[in-house]
Amino acid sequence: MLSREEFVRVSLEINLFFQRIMKEHLFFLETNLQPVVPGYITEARGLRLSYDRLLSETVYYSNGVISEEALKSNEIVTPYTLEAEEISSNLTGRSINTRITRAEQGLVSNPNYNCGEWFNIASYINSRSLSLVTETIGFKKRLLSLVNSCRIFISLYPEMLKHLIQEAEYYSEILNSLQKGSLPRKTLCEELNFWNYIMREHAQFIDGMLDPSEAALKETAETAAKKFEKLVEECIKAAESKIKQDSLRATEEIKNYKAAATMGLIKCEIKSIIPPLLADHVLREANHYLRLLRMLNK
Ligand SMILES: [Fe+2]
Ligand SMILES: [Fe+2]
Repeated sequence: MLSREEFVRVSLEINLFFQRIMKEHLFFLETNLQPVVPGYITEARGLRLSYDRLLSETVYYSNGVISEEALKSNEIVTPYTLEAEEISSNLTGRSINTRITRAEQGLVSNPNYNCGEWFNIASYINSRSLSLVTETIGFKKRLLSLVNSCRIFISLYPEMLKHLIQEAEYYSEILNSLQKGSLPRKTLCEELNFWNYIMREHAQFIDGMLDPSEAALKETAETAAKKFEKLVEECIKAAESKIKQDSLRATEEIKNYKAAATMGLIKCEIKSIIPPLLADHVLREANHYLRLLRMLNK
């Protein structure tokens, strides 16, 4: 069981990270669906705006409450997020609420803050997030089924739609446990395999979305994908400390690669069909996983 203080801090940190992740998933869906299905585009946008409202509140209550580690991890925003949003918004003609991003950049941590009084607020944010993420999972599953039966076309890989569902389900599982006062009970391999699999898919998506002429970047992505695939295969037989360290090393590497790719895309130095916001998004997911790995390696 988490103490009241831990519950508030962990709830706000988890929601800060995942509400942004969810709103960006909806941005990617909204901007990659075709004009022939305006209803689904509107649905994606409506859900995205609901996350905006929720995230604005979460940011407000998080100030002073969240840990130094969460703030420094760059999982909430990176130094590139704002610019990536501005470019992605200009290039797609869809507005993005950058006031939230600026507020996130101004967040501070205060270890002496008594956050126990936010217990009801954190619990309320969790319950609203849970119902929104449940709705989001349903929406993504409907789209995936339509894509798989070739009834709609979306310029995202079906595997990426599955990936977006898995991340939403992982978030929903955490929210469900939090509402019972704890975090999900998982074995080390369950936790590491989830994220190593996610990291592997990021590398595969990047590889598949880079222009064929970007040979060197594609090769690095391919090597990274193989490394994470091996980590997933090895988790059961390998010693715990080794797999934790190897995952940490591989994730550090892919984080640096993603940061360089985000910068390169922002500066228009890389040829691809990767929106800068997607590169920054997967960078934040690596940063989140790195914080988790550092906690596990302590
Ligand atoms: Fe994601
Ligand atoms: Fe992801």
